[in-house]
Amino acid sequence: MAVCVAPMNTSVLDCTTGDATAHLQQAAQILRAGGLVAIPTETVYGLAAHALDSRAVERIYAAKGRPSTNPLIVHVATVQQVLGLVATFPPAAQQLAQHFWPGPLTLVLPKAKCVPDSVTAGGPTVAIRIPAHPLALRLLSESNLPLAAPSANRSMRLSPTTAAHVLDDLSGRIDLVLDAGQTPGGIESTVVDLSTSLPRLLRPGLLSPAAIEAVIGKIDRTVPLASQGALSSPGLLEKHYAPHTPLECVERAEQYLLALRTRGVRAGLLTHRNLHAALHNEHVEHLPADPVAYASGLFAALHRLDRLGLQRIVVEKPPLGDEWLAIHDRLRRGSSNAP
Ligand code: TXA
Ligand code: MG
Repeated sequence: MAVCVAPMNTSVLDCTTGDATAHLQQAAQILRAGGLVAIPTETVYGLAAHALDSRAVERIYAAKGRPSTNPLIVHVATVQQVLGLVATFPPAAQQLAQHFWPGPLTLVLPKAKCVPDSVTAGGPTVAIRIPAHPLALRLLSESNLPLAAPSANRSMRLSPTTAAHVLDDLSGRIDLVLDAGQTPGGIESTVVDLSTSLPRLLRPGLLSPAAIEAVIGKIDRTVPLASQGALSSPGLLEKHYAPHTPLECVERAEQYLLALRTRGVRAGLLTHRNLHAALHNEHVEHLPADPVAYASGLFAALHRLDRLGLQRIVVEKPPLGDEWLAIHDRLRRGSSNAP
């Protein structure tokens, strides 16, 4: 479906210094009037709209070019607000909320009637979280609204971890960006479906499955794939989080980069190992071999490599293990445009 978005001026308000109160009031006013505001969260920037205003929510889909079959996460400030948006709040949800909210955990629950179909893509469940970023929490309180907010990027593209990333994709398509600097987490929240008898991991994210299992016991960790037809999480399209430049994951990059160079292919490298000296490669992004620090820098590093106009981004596969699960997931989906 071709969607038209009337061009508009996108304002940016700097919330990195000084008192942000006036900026938050302005953002809340725009949201109450049905506008779109990009906001920082502790994971990535989100593109927020009033979740109970269908027309505002539809503008999110248009601005992102997002398929209407892919539902949105609703962000709220308190568990009390969650109770107004769900039909049930089972004991597992209560326990997880107590342990991990505010934080990077999204719970999928049977929805209450007031949640519009545009938020849930017509489905019977709603995804909800309380984000941990102080500015997001202040905006949620100031506006007193539940905010539907997907990541603030064009559909399928890299998620934004700075206001500049948001503007690269959405300038002229949204009303406002609240700039709070780089988002600390760097990748998205973990999505868990609690609407089924066995809780199911729908998307690996900043919170590890082991941390979740330590609270509610075993969960189904088989992340659904797009190829499985009727999706339990329609957003899990295989191609996602992709830079414009074809991205490829390899075990060890040295030989591969040399081979690309002899074929005249201009490539950049993202690695967690110290290879700079060995490779004499001008375009090396280095991330720490620690999963938290790696996640925090991942999308920013890919954004930088993507801006260089290369023919290939080569990523050295990071270590395996539970804490690296979400990183492998993002790299795999980002490389689905591999040559
Ligand atoms: O960290 C995050 O989760 C960020 C920040 C902004 O909160 N948001 C984010 O939203 O990543 P988005 O739209 O990019 O990803 C939401 C994911 C998608 O995979 C979507 O399909 C899934 O959550 N989802 C949303 N509602 C759902 C529902 N009712 N049932 C199953 N999956 C759902
Ligand atoms: Mg997204």
